[in-house]
Amino acid sequence: MTLAERLRHETRDLHEQTEALLYTEPLRTGTLTPEQYRHLLQVHWVFHHALEAAIDRNPDFFQSYRPDDRRKTPWLESDLAALGVPLPDSIPDLFAHWSPVELLGAAYVGEGSMLGGKVVMHYLQQSLELQPLLPNARFYRGYGSETVEKWKAFNAILAGQVESDQDNIVEAAHRTFRAYHTIFRQAQSQNQALV
Ligand code: HEM
Repeated sequence: MTLAERLRHETRDLHEQTEALLYTEPLRTGTLTPEQYRHLLQVHWVFHHALEAAIDRNPDFFQSYRPDDRRKTPWLESDLAALGVPLPDSIPDLFAHWSPVELLGAAYVGEGSMLGGKVVMHYLQQSLELQPLLPNARFYRGYGSETVEKWKAFNAILAGQVESDQDNIVEAAHRTFRAYHTIFRQAQSQNQALV
């Protein structure tokens, strides 16, 4: 099995758990509230802010990843500003001690999450309450027509990794999905504290 196949198979359960946690039920039924949408944007911002900073600390390893072409924080910042909400507390240490190879496992989760964006945007548009907020929404448009090309380029990076690093990358992807769950719960309790 290739590394990409291993990642897909071995994180499938975690993907499902993450979808379920991140409001898939209200999304699919068109009942996601603006409050939940804000929470999602905040969760993604905390994750991508920490990951982009960690990747930037390893420019040689991530040269072919082309970090500047894959930044999501500007999109998230523009979407949060449009909602008039402040950025949440960041977790700058989230990936502080991760090796470049482990960060590649985290990047797999970040890049893979772009594949679901089109579906999620479609669901968001089903919610009447959200419709007025969506015309300029950027994050869930993701890479748009470049999605396939960017995913292929990322998979080429995965294909170039040595066999002995594969377990490490897959394990890091597991840890990354779990980090998403932690961020989700932290951002939720921060929002509750604001109410
Ligand atoms: C309700 C939210 C979500 C939906 C509906 C969704 C849906 C999808 C879909 C349709 C794909 C593409 C399958 C394909 O084209 O082959 C995908 C792939 C993926 N998604 Fe999600 N997703 C969601 C949330 C997330 C989140 C929050 C993350 C990360 C934390 C994530 C990580 C991934 C990854 C890593 C892949 C790549 C799987 C592979 O290796 O092929 N997804 N998702």
